[in-house]
Amino acid sequence: MNASASTADLRRSHDRIAERVVGRQRELELTLAAVAAGRDIVLEGPPGTSKTTMLAAITGEWGIPLVFVEGNADLTPAKLVGHHNPARVLREDYSAENFVPGPLIEAMQQGGFLYIEEFNRAPEDTLNTLLTAMADRSIAVPRVGRITAAPSFRVIASMNPYDNVGTTRLSTSVHDRLNRLSVDYQDADAEERIVALRTGATGALGERMLRDAVAVTRATRGHPDVRQGSSVRGAIDTTLVATQLAALRGLEVPTGADYPELLFDAMIVALSGRIHLDEAAETTPERVLREIWEDRFILEPHEAAPG
Ligand SMILES: Nc1ncnc2c1ncn2[C@@H]1O[C@H](COP(=O)(O)OP(=O)(O)OP(=O)(O)O)[C@@H](O)[C@H]1O
Ligand SMILES: [Mg+2]
Repeated sequence: MNASASTADLRRSHDRIAERVVGRQRELELTLAAVAAGRDIVLEGPPGTSKTTMLAAITGEWGIPLVFVEGNADLTPAKLVGHHNPARVLREDYSAENFVPGPLIEAMQQGGFLYIEEFNRAPEDTLNTLLTAMADRSIAVPRVGRITAAPSFRVIASMNPYDNVGTTRLSTSVHDRLNRLSVDYQDADAEERIVALRTGATGALGERMLRDAVAVTRATRGHPDVRQGSSVRGAIDTTLVATQLAALRGLEVPTGADYPELLFDAMIVALSGRIHLDEAAETTPERVLREIWEDRFILEPHEAAPG
């Protein structure tokens, strides 16, 4: 499908895209509406909130590339646009043939989505280059000429709202040129379905582990000493690690006395590096996880019980 597809085509392609994404109906519909309108958008949300999953599903359906670039202080305009191969320049002088396209040119020429993660970490001159390309849908490259974007070229930026170190305060003129969608964590039911899909955990033990993994992962986000808790990636890994621990320890059912401690051990491995404590907090990730574990397995064991 392309940007000028009919209404029926748009609806059908939406339905096929939605099949590749668990939940996220509203976020997907709004993102798709923005890109189908020919517009660029910034997705603002914490890690692990389906941004890449949704974009990969849309570009997969459209049959166009999703070109990644990480926004950081080293992302100069030249890295974004491209450079001339120095060895060939020495032999042949500058020419369009010895130009090595950067991600921006690649996405423009192939009609892909340029997905610039942590957009607000990029230097200001890089943002200006990007804004010019977005506004003109073309860019002048010295010694190459003017490159015009294919119709399905889009710029998608992402930003983590918790991120405040090394970020550029985006000017109002940047914001004025972009659409924006704020995405938050998935709900518990969707997270359980995502973990089930990504881990293949089944059976009484597998289902119990993934429910516990999702519950304790979600609890890291609301703990008073935590600035940023773990995304669904932590729940996926808790489930995968717990599955291997169960095999190592010969545990086959979730009802045994050894099960809660096994889940705690998996939490330590999968979650302790994924929670970021408040600067003022006088505790450790391990202690925070122990509290969360106690809440689930000792104080309110009925919440963890099957059924
Ligand atoms: N809606 C979803 N459907 C299926 N899998 C999902 C969904 N959301 C997240 N996942 C899975 O969770 C992980 C993280 O999701 P994803 O990469 O889409 O997050 P993100 O928002 O791009 O995160 P980041 O900001 O860190 O790049 C991936 O392994 C992905 O497979
Ligand atoms: Mg991503």
